[in-house]
Amino acid sequence: MEDLWYKNAVIYCLAVETFVDSDGDGFGDFEGLLGQLDYLSWLGVDCLWLEPFFPSPWNDHGYDVADYRTVDPRLGTLEQFERLNREAEARGIRVLVDLVLNHTSDEHPWFKSACADRSSEHRDYYMWTDDPASEPPQPNAFPTRQASPWTYDEQAGQYYLHRFYSHEPDLNVAHPELADELRDIARFWLERGIAGFRVDAAHFLVQKLEQSGDPDPHRLLRDLHRLATDRRADAVLLAEADVDLGQVPDFFAGGQECTLLLNFVLDCNIFLALARQEAEPLRRVLHSLPEPPEACQWANFVRNQDELNLARLSDEERDHVFDAFARSPKERAFGRGIRRRVPAMLRGDRRRIELIYSLLFSLPGTPVLGYGDEIGMGDDLDLPERMSVRTPMQWSADPGAGFSSAANDGLTPYLISTGDYGHERVNLDDQRRDPQSLVNWVRATIQARRRLPEIGLGRLVLFETDSPSVFAHACEWQGRGIAAFHNLASEPRTFRARGFDRELRDDSLPCDSDYGELDPSNVELAPYGYRWLRFGDS
Ligand code: GLC
Repeated sequence: MEDLWYKNAVIYCLAVETFVDSDGDGFGDFEGLLGQLDYLSWLGVDCLWLEPFFPSPWNDHGYDVADYRTVDPRLGTLEQFERLNREAEARGIRVLVDLVLNHTSDEHPWFKSACADRSSEHRDYYMWTDDPASEPPQPNAFPTRQASPWTYDEQAGQYYLHRFYSHEPDLNVAHPELADELRDIARFWLERGIAGFRVDAAHFLVQKLEQSGDPDPHRLLRDLHRLATDRRADAVLLAEADVDLGQVPDFFAGGQECTLLLNFVLDCNIFLALARQEAEPLRRVLHSLPEPPEACQWANFVRNQDELNLARLSDEERDHVFDAFARSPKERAFGRGIRRRVPAMLRGDRRRIELIYSLLFSLPGTPVLGYGDEIGMGDDLDLPERMSVRTPMQWSADPGAGFSSAANDGLTPYLISTGDYGHERVNLDDQRRDPQSLVNWVRATIQARRRLPEIGLGRLVLFETDSPSVFAHACEWQGRGIAAFHNLASEPRTFRARGFDRELRDDSLPCDSDYGELDPSNVELAPYGYRWLRFGDS
């Protein structure tokens, strides 16, 4: 059971550089993060996913890595990272490091040497062509921004492949020496005692091995899993693998590969269900998700550090979500997503904000929160692309938002200081003092989830009601569990639960929105109301 800790964990994703700045240079740092571990422990998170903190020109939020084996000096030192890991562990919080193996920054010494000299030992670490037209089609993550995934480098005299930005040349992971280097990098961080990795663009690692004709294209991911669990039995790989559902079992690989898969398909269907005010998209997707093997789990989220990616919806469904939550082109990104945070999409409607997080916490699957979600931070659409949602954490109403004492330095110009989501209106300090605040609700909901291991460990049961707007599910484990009802409609609903005959008890879970009667043949929910009820012995 201990080794399945992640099934009942709450993961909190943060970027060190936007969290807390301790030395006043305008960049968040490890020292600042260390000072907030007590807060994270108070909130109740079990695991931190640290976005890349390595030396980087910082053109893609640090996902453009220029050196894999140390910490960006603006953020701190390796020693501070190690201290963070120790002090987090001492509070029962595990640390996951974001491992970006699909590409490097174009400022990585490997790429520089590869461009400078065709005979460099690093040349084949990257993927080159003289003629992009003769190459098989390659996916490009930013189709509206970049015409081609191939860019010509004058010095190199060839085109290089980049599935993301042109400043992020793709690594040729089929290259044996490079693959050894990548495993070494993983070992380097594992030796620091971390609890595993968030694996960036994991599906591309597999695709590239496939394209190179490798008979075992999952081997790199499997190796990472083995390296991690050899070092620490409870280590996990949290993978970004946005693949067709048919491929999912290969990524779980019976517990030998990705421990947790970020659940992209659930995410976009949560928003579709909200837009339509209908349970059907949720029911459909949850019916279709492959059941993870015993040792694995879905990692559920509503928003992350990127755009809300709607690519897995049909054109009509996507238009519906755009129409409901992002009418203006400025709110959208790459023709497929929404670059807003939740409260801005839901027009600050606390009922709907609670509804969406109540769904997240009541479904089996490990919930992943992004920093600032717990206080309902907003976004800044004047910032380009995904930067809109990567603004500094709002700790207080003080100038600098408690993020930094720097005046207009580093990242402080990106603080949201004005408007409905400015730090004077939305900040942690004020919310901690207010028992009715969002952060206190999120904390209580995390506590409720912790008291209900049946959610993470149990079997999901979907059942019907006679209202299409009500999503009803139960999680059952060892004869006990919870049933939850979510009213996606803007009108109150009174309904009957069908096909679920357990006797439901109101144990006053702190996350109840406290509406209506308990009788499952006549449940009442307010507009956007929700309710969790218990059944069985506990
Ligand atoms: C992942 C990250 C994203 C980054 C990309 C390239 O999708 O979530 O932020 O831009 O990888 O590393």
